[in-house]
Amino acid sequence: AIGNLAGGIAHDFNNLLQIIHGYTEIMIMKKDKTHPDYQKLIEVKQTAQRATDLTKQLLTFSRKVESVMKPADLNHEIRQIHKLLERTLPHVINMELKLSDDLHSINADKSQLGQIIMNLGVNARDAMPNGGTMRIETRNEVIEEKSPETPEDFRLGPGIYAVLSISDTGIGMTRDSMDHIFEPFYTTKEVGKGTGLGLAIIYGIVTSHNGHISCTSEVGKGTTFDIYFPVFQKLLNA
Ligand SMILES: Nc1ncnc2c1ncn2[C@@H]1O[C@H](COP(=O)(O)OP(=O)(O)O)[C@@H](O)[C@H]1O
Ligand SMILES: [Mg+2]
Repeated sequence: AIGNLAGGIAHDFNNLLQIIHGYTEIMIMKKDKTHPDYQKLIEVKQTAQRATDLTKQLLTFSRKVESVMKPADLNHEIRQIHKLLERTLPHVINMELKLSDDLHSINADKSQLGQIIMNLGVNARDAMPNGGTMRIETRNEVIEEKSPETPEDFRLGPGIYAVLSISDTGIGMTRDSMDHIFEPFYTTKEVGKGTGLGLAIIYGIVTSHNGHISCTSEVGKGTTFDIYFPVFQKLLNA
């Protein structure tokens, strides 16, 4: 429901922002740089731009319906994003890949997989301002029938899953914070740095893939996100 609402509003909102942006641009052009309002108008323009970026994310958030599900190799998508991430990460952050070489295929939308890995990667980077290690791992995991040890919020049925695990050695989170991280607009980052949509989007994508995301974290030690995807089942000839 949040998705639909966001999508509808975001579209109209974007059009309004274009108008604000456009008129501000015109006013800036007509003013000399020394004019007392010049800097204020630049602020307005930049803020309109930030609002536009935010609406773009809202639109992505509501685009769940457009997913194209195909057999996909999680390792392949990780290697692609890894190249991108490596270029943007500060040198104080180490990247480790530990990809299972017999990982099962999953049924997934490749661009959404990319979005998941990228968003988790960026969060891990933000959590390690003084450096550390980001580790991306894949593994096959068999989930048995629920046992007394199964966490209550663990919703997966028994079966075989391909697991994507991203961990960092960063600042970690309090229990209180962890209760809110999947809510849209929950962020602990400064205005302009965080939107609070990353994990909400990831949650939506994972759910639409019939998967599960879980998080473990310890303040000052680091955080791990595990995402479970049901493996792709080949259709048998009837
Ligand atoms: N790897 C991480 N380590 C510590 N905190 C995290 C991590 N990932 C997410 N968080 C917390 O969850 C919040 C929400 O994350 P997200 O939805 O991606 O929004 P944003 O990154 O824009 O703040 C973050 O602001 C942060 O408080
Ligand atoms: Mg984020």
